[in-house]
Amino acid sequence: MKILVIGGGGREHAIVTAIAKSKKATKIYCAPGNAGIAELATCVPIGVMEFDKLVAFASENAIDLTVVGPDDPLVGGVVDAFEAAGLRVFGPRKNAAIVEGSKAFSKELMKKYGIPTAGYETFSDAEEAAAYIRAQGKYPVVLKADGLALGKGVLICNSEEEAMAGVKEIMLDKHFGTAGDKMVVEEFMTGREVSALCFCDGKNVRPMTSAQDHKRAGDGDTGLNTGGMGTFSPSPFYTDEVHEYCVKNIYEPTMAAMAAEGRPFTGVMFVGLMLTPEGPKVLEYNARFGDPETQVVLPRMENDIVDVFEACIDGRLDEVELKFADNAAVCVVLASDGYPQHYEKGLPISGLDAFKGCNDKFVFHAGTKFGEDGAVLTNGGRVLGVTALGSDLKEARANAYKATELISFANKYMRHDIGKAIDEA
Ligand code: AMP
Ligand code: GLY
Repeated sequence: MKILVIGGGGREHAIVTAIAKSKKATKIYCAPGNAGIAELATCVPIGVMEFDKLVAFASENAIDLTVVGPDDPLVGGVVDAFEAAGLRVFGPRKNAAIVEGSKAFSKELMKKYGIPTAGYETFSDAEEAAAYIRAQGKYPVVLKADGLALGKGVLICNSEEEAMAGVKEIMLDKHFGTAGDKMVVEEFMTGREVSALCFCDGKNVRPMTSAQDHKRAGDGDTGLNTGGMGTFSPSPFYTDEVHEYCVKNIYEPTMAAMAAEGRPFTGVMFVGLMLTPEGPKVLEYNARFGDPETQVVLPRMENDIVDVFEACIDGRLDEVELKFADNAAVCVVLASDGYPQHYEKGLPISGLDAFKGCNDKFVFHAGTKFGEDGAVLTNGGRVLGVTALGSDLKEARANAYKATELISFANKYMRHDIGKAIDEA
């Protein structure tokens, strides 16, 4: 099969790596890809939002299967565009990707179908939102811009003053653009966070192994929110009992709810969970593989991923049993110092060759490009994801941090406490 992957980050590098192991894949393309993906796939210089060009490329090159990585094209309807051209594509249609595109939609869905989540109200008027928050008088309170905001449209406010500033930032100053036309005001929850990535075929759901992200930029969960600074898998807090509860009360009811709403979900549904003292509750839904969760989940998967993609598209996921190795993985993100704000790009990276041909450690490129002389240069805030396997989480973590030492670039920055939570398990 000729397979096209849409995207160009660490998630897509991990997806391309999994596809490259498939017996079915004869040729892989990636649009736009990056310097790491270029080792396994032919990179095509088309942007993820250039739907017409992507569809034309897939048609002209007789692509048998297209896999969509990022949220923006999914929410924008890239799957619908491929289907309209008679092309096979893995991902949710626009009317299902709305679970990520609108927080107001997903909160309402959960309320209607009794899926556990934090209590909330939705507002499209700033003054009404402010009045509601004041009347409640309960802090911290969580404010969420309705639409896509690079995972950054969530404010946790510890006082009335902070909350009023937050309402202004989201709804009046439009800090997150039109994502802030509507806003969700949500009850604050406490507990461990778990990312559950689930394959879905519109009716059936097959959860992958669990993972945990680290969203803040600094050690000890300090500093600004980022796209994710590192992950580990599995989560020791996501026990069999928690899993059973989530399958019965969250994953299966969500699939059924989407189908009942005439929005059957096909693709990967990422359920962000909070394990609260009252039980697991949904923080958010995403309509795609998580990044950097994918960099620890897929290296542990034993299935042929192309078989799983096809089963999802054909509505026969019930025939598939997902298999994950009885090991663990840790991914440490190497970022550019200054991320997520201001940072330098275009700096040469050395040490990448040390990972060539390895099956127990991987370097997934998140933001890299080729320089004129063919050298690999930094090209983003998150530059690389260094993943290592181990027989357990402690070993995987030690291996991952050892592997980070193999790589150097001038403004290399990383957290030093990825996976520290496992010491408390
Ligand atoms: P989200 O994009 O909705 O997952 O929110 C981003 C992050 O904000 C989450 O990973 C949590 O750490 C935090 N967060 C979101 N909603 C809540 C909530 N209701 N209570 C506590 N923390 C939250
Ligand atoms: N790691 C969080 C996300 O992919 O949204």
